[in-house]
Amino acid sequence: MTKPILVANWKNRPDSLGKANEILKGFSKKSDVYKKLNTFIAPPLAYFESVSKKTKTFSKLASQDISIGKKTTTGAVEVDILQGFGVRLSIIGHSDRRALGETNEEVTEKIKVALKAGITPLVCVGENERDREGEFLEFIRHQIRLSLGGIKKKENATKLVVAYEPVWAIDKGAKYAMAPEDLAQMIIFIRKVLTDIYDRKTADKIPILYGGSVEKSGVEGLVRTGINGFLVGQASLDPENFGKIAQALLKK
Ligand code: PGA
Repeated sequence: MTKPILVANWKNRPDSLGKANEILKGFSKKSDVYKKLNTFIAPPLAYFESVSKKTKTFSKLASQDISIGKKTTTGAVEVDILQGFGVRLSIIGHSDRRALGETNEEVTEKIKVALKAGITPLVCVGENERDREGEFLEFIRHQIRLSLGGIKKKENATKLVVAYEPVWAIDKGAKYAMAPEDLAQMIIFIRKVLTDIYDRKTADKIPILYGGSVEKSGVEGLVRTGINGFLVGQASLDPENFGKIAQALLKK
């Protein structure tokens, strides 16, 4: 994907379809901006139909997870169902899922399911906290190596997108987003880890996104780090805020 990538991760919000439709109405006013980016919306499953119908001219549908369960697993949403709705990207290994016990091995399995179905896997990684000794770097290296360890073929690796989401920065508000100078270092570090797993040419083809309290305020600094896009939670429920983030990404 050469255009910057913008992903709205609505999580379990908003709390009614009526409110979701209001947000979508707000989004459509900025459709020309979203069209110039690779824009994805990951709504709660119950809003899939509405979102896909109302946004198909300017964004693509994404899922917040992908199932590796059998077709008969209660509560699981199977990849065929996601495909049926036109899902083009799946968020995999989000820290919310990892906190519920999702392992790196399961993340690998989910990536494989997505790749097989032609769905872009957006693989989330991020440390829970930072320590002065820099042990969090080892944590990230390990998480990436284990999550992507089973994705051996380079042609599959180039279909991945990585989202760096430090858990301590998620769902907090603009002033808790990562400092741009720290993010710039993390991008270099993650690229190096990817280079060690694959090679430089392959690693350069894997877009790296940032997520964690991305808001309109402060977004310009984050854009200047060389990031390839954003995974946005809270601010993606506010059309004005999300629109400003999209505009800032366009100036990249
Ligand atoms: P946030 O969420 O933008 O509300 O911090 C990001 C995410 O969890 O993907």
